[in-house]
Amino acid sequence: MSPADSPILRTDYTGDGLDEADLLPTPLAQVRAWVAAAQARQAAQGDVPEPTALSVATVDAAGAPDVRTVLMRFLDARGPGFVTDLRSAKGREIGGNAAVAASLTWPSMFRAVRFRGSAVEIGRGEVAEYFAGRPWGSRISAWASHQSAPTASRAELEAAYAAVAARHPDTGSPDDVPLPDHWGGWRITCTEVELWAGRRNRLHDRIVLTRVGEGGLDDADAWSVGRRQP
Ligand SMILES: Cc1cc2nc3c(=O)[nH]c(=O)nc-3n(C[C@H](O)[C@H](O)[C@H](O)COP(=O)(O)O)c2cc1C
Repeated sequence: MSPADSPILRTDYTGDGLDEADLLPTPLAQVRAWVAAAQARQAAQGDVPEPTALSVATVDAAGAPDVRTVLMRFLDARGPGFVTDLRSAKGREIGGNAAVAASLTWPSMFRAVRFRGSAVEIGRGEVAEYFAGRPWGSRISAWASHQSAPTASRAELEAAYAAVAARHPDTGSPDDVPLPDHWGGWRITCTEVELWAGRRNRLHDRIVLTRVGEGGLDDADAWSVGRRQP
């Protein structure tokens, strides 16, 4: 398709930007503030669906990149975290190379956050607590689906779901479906957090927080503040 076939729609980004003077004292506070703003905007205006949608990039055994979207289920001083099937493609890739990158993107707010770092598996106690809070049907699916493995048909998948559902009927109790060993999650221990804020004439703000110490995302002394050209 040539450019003549598809008119290019240009949007001038009219976001608020991000000034060093307005930066919250720690990466955790700043990212949490932006996530909260995205969630509030979704509640008020409905134009930020899945405000915690996190694109997670990994590298496979051949060095080729891979990417998919998950939901950011945890965000604390240790980094953003997500849950998934540990046997999945992302699980295999992280098993071979823990280096990951991830981003939260809120186009309607002209904002994005980029994380770079390494994946650290979330402890079984925390995973168990999180799993118990998931809806029954999601817990059944965690057993019925071997994520990223091939399946012959939709019918095969639904039959697997029905078989697990029959084994673990919904009793309304959080322990009616046991936690599968293959289900868990990772946190990203960050080396870098970039806050991108779109502004007029493509002169966007890019504030980069780079790890300079051992502390968590809540330790201001562990991070230096810089700015990149847009
Ligand atoms: C908005 C959205 C949220 C998703 N959330 C998750 C999630 O939290 N965990 C998950 O394993 N997959 C989630 N998925 C599905 C993944 O994108 C992906 O299909 C799956 O994790 C398998 O990826 P892999 O084969 O690269 O491991 C989500 C997809 C979308 C579009």
